[in-house]
Amino acid sequence: MSETLNTERLTADTNGIRRAAELLKAGKLVAFGTETVYGLGALASSDTAVARIFAAKGRPRFNPLISHLADAESAFAQADLHGRIKDMAYALADKFWPGPLTMVLPRGSHSTVSDLAAAGLNTLALRVPRGKTALALLREVGAPIAAPSANISGTVSPSDASHVLRSLDGRIDAVLDSGPCSVGVESTVLDLTRDTPVLLRPGGVTLEELTALCGPIQHPDDFAEALPSSPGRLASHYAPSLPVRLDAYDVRPNEALLAFGPALSNAGLTWNLSETGNLEEAAARLFAGLRFLDAEGTKRGLTCIAAQPIPRQGLGLAIRDRLRRAAEPRPLSQALG
Ligand code: TXA
Ligand code: MG
Repeated sequence: MSETLNTERLTADTNGIRRAAELLKAGKLVAFGTETVYGLGALASSDTAVARIFAAKGRPRFNPLISHLADAESAFAQADLHGRIKDMAYALADKFWPGPLTMVLPRGSHSTVSDLAAAGLNTLALRVPRGKTALALLREVGAPIAAPSANISGTVSPSDASHVLRSLDGRIDAVLDSGPCSVGVESTVLDLTRDTPVLLRPGGVTLEELTALCGPIQHPDDFAEALPSSPGRLASHYAPSLPVRLDAYDVRPNEALLAFGPALSNAGLTWNLSETGNLEEAAARLFAGLRFLDAEGTKRGLTCIAAQPIPRQGLGLAIRDRLRRAAEPRPLSQALG
């Protein structure tokens, strides 16, 4: 997008939420806080509004967006639900909505979501967030809001309004500041359109919680390790400018440390995700930590971020997935800045 916009800063009070809703209804771009990360919202029914999301983020157009709604009833009105899929969708909504779960469902013939937001697919990703501000905003708009994470495509996701402004100030119409996000990693994306549900992205609702409700779920044993074999997927994502070294049991003189549990003893510049080894705390501190180590490490002449091992359970699966993508080799365009 070549035009420069004046990005309005809105506080998450009644007036701010009303103003944000008004802008969205007028086809404008508004970033808003959810419990997972900040989303970059636009009216999902409007191809032109949605096109502006792709332009502001520099996001490939074949990558579909999640549509956000205020409750399960309005979400399911966008889908075409029958039989087993319907039962499972309602059970999942009952347990996890509002919350950090995104369901991929058959797209309904009455869906108002634009082709561009759905990337032309006959499925639709739907989510009812539990962040208070997000819910109030969605209620006020009363229509599906398409919202990817509010960052330049491929870079670290924003868990705070200041992160949004650092990359999108002047490229979007407003940001609705509801403070830091409580969960801190994106929603879990579960595809219900196959015979067995497929976990497409580990996130804020854990695989263990989903399996307890749905039975067997298809998923790579460890998302992170399985990535490079998935042809055509954009592996590099959530990428700081410094390279990341995974599962580090030592820290080298040129490295900043992303610690988990007791930090490695000879570490200099360190961000501890959770000194007590708590995965919820670690997820909430992940993206802020990557940003901090990247900026401060670069300033101090460090050339790498070493990440201590994270367990493959609970929210650890989502954290490992984000770290692995942060560690992937960057496409040339990103490597060149
Ligand atoms: O927590 C979140 O989910 C945040 C907040 C803002 O809600 N949103 C977010 O959106 O992370 P985004 O666009 O960064 O990630 C959406 C993911 C992508 O991996 C996309 O490929 C997938 O959902 N997705 C969307 N529609 C899909 C569909 N019809 N089938 C399969 N995957 C889909
Ligand atoms: Mg994203």
